[in-house]
Amino acid sequence: MKPGRTVFACQACGAQASKWHGRCPECGTWHSLVEEPVRPAPGDGGAGRYGPPGEAAAARPYDEIEMPDVARLASGIDELDRVLGGGIVPGSVVLLGGEPGIGKSTLLLQAAASAARTLGPVLYASGEESEHQVKIRGERLGVRAAPLYLLAETCLERILEAVDRVQPAVLIVDSIQTVFSGKLQSAPGSIGQVREAAAQLLFTAKGRALPTFLVGHVTKDGSLAGPKVLEHVVDTVLYFEGERHHAHRIVRAVKNRFGPVSELGVFEMTGTGLRAVPSPSQLFLSERAANVPGSVVLCSIEGSRPILVEVQALVSSGAYGTSRRTASGLDPNRLALLLAVLEKRAGLHLAGEDVFLNIAGGLIVNEPAADLGVVAAVASSLRNRAVRPGTAVFGEVGLAGEVRATPQAALRVKEAAQLGFTRCVMPAGNSASSADGESCRHVGVGTVEEALEALIE
Ligand code: TYD
Ligand code: MG
Repeated sequence: MKPGRTVFACQACGAQASKWHGRCPECGTWHSLVEEPVRPAPGDGGAGRYGPPGEAAAARPYDEIEMPDVARLASGIDELDRVLGGGIVPGSVVLLGGEPGIGKSTLLLQAAASAARTLGPVLYASGEESEHQVKIRGERLGVRAAPLYLLAETCLERILEAVDRVQPAVLIVDSIQTVFSGKLQSAPGSIGQVREAAAQLLFTAKGRALPTFLVGHVTKDGSLAGPKVLEHVVDTVLYFEGERHHAHRIVRAVKNRFGPVSELGVFEMTGTGLRAVPSPSQLFLSERAANVPGSVVLCSIEGSRPILVEVQALVSSGAYGTSRRTASGLDPNRLALLLAVLEKRAGLHLAGEDVFLNIAGGLIVNEPAADLGVVAAVASSLRNRAVRPGTAVFGEVGLAGEVRATPQAALRVKEAAQLGFTRCVMPAGNSASSADGESCRHVGVGTVEEALEALIE
């Protein structure tokens, strides 16, 4: 086959066809054919990819491979650098996903402006907005004189041409779903196009050590649109979490080849763009009504940072027959498990009760240390008694009703003390190892029953 042509490859069996079929002629899978460019095999003029290896393909001993000097670049937005694991890695490709209107373009334009001031020219290719629209947004964000180049373009080849001309220090493509390659006939946003665009941008990024940010759309069920392969190809995947209706936004790393995941960046959306939130605990607790049954303050850890959040539960007698259990910000299966533990091990009667659980502020808490907070909130609401004032809580709950130790207890207690909490109910295994003499008293508990006794009067 001549190079420059395209084939349709089945994503299930790998069979190739010269034209599109609704059903793969080889394996019979429906809708599995995707257009791909034909690339000559590397090396000896395409004679065969399994031919004799050249010089470059020879394996080298580990010790002889020199350590590259990868100094990270500061984007100028501390919370973004934190999620990236300490700054931008040259040549890395970062995918930023999130719901429409959550602030992807805003964050990247702010990052572009501040990076342009410190790192050199930045090219911002927007396929969704015109240069004027981006500029209007930039004026709101207070983008000052900086070598920031805007390009309203969706053609991949022309974006790469602009990269050649501008020689940017950072490239931003908003969004990858709008970019199309002239080599393929399929529509922008189709699997073939998205994959081809991502692959070409990846080659450019690696070849020029050019850090590249791609904006990715998410589908209705919350996953990144386009092939899952996009997440495998890029180095880092960041997600915007939280609600569009809340003022604050959370950026979380779900994959990072150059740093830890689960690190959070917390921002607040203001009239002049996104602003970093220096103390997330304060933000998440700001609207908390004290001494209300069903409200518990939980010391959770996100990445390397302790964050206090409010767990709210509402238990009310359900309608006859079925009882509803819903959880937002927490895995519903975990809630079901904890309710069963409460029923069996602590003698609470929850059958026939509706249970609603919410992590205030739109944060998603996944760690097991949240268990004790959930259990306490549910029990507090069921008994209609508030949790003792000034108390924070953390701990994992096991199926036998035991409270298990959790990592980084000291960090959690320190954060609680800093925010004025005077008691911390925690696993007995943790309270022994924690230092005494802090302003926050450690109350170690071994079982769920003990915990409820310590928490609720
Ligand atoms: P945007 O960044 O365009 O979202 P995305 O690219 O993820 O689709 O828009 C974010 C929202 O934030 C938009 O609805 C308007 C709002 N906004 C502000 O509140 N303040 C601002 O300064 C800006 C630029 C946007
Ligand atoms: Mg946008």
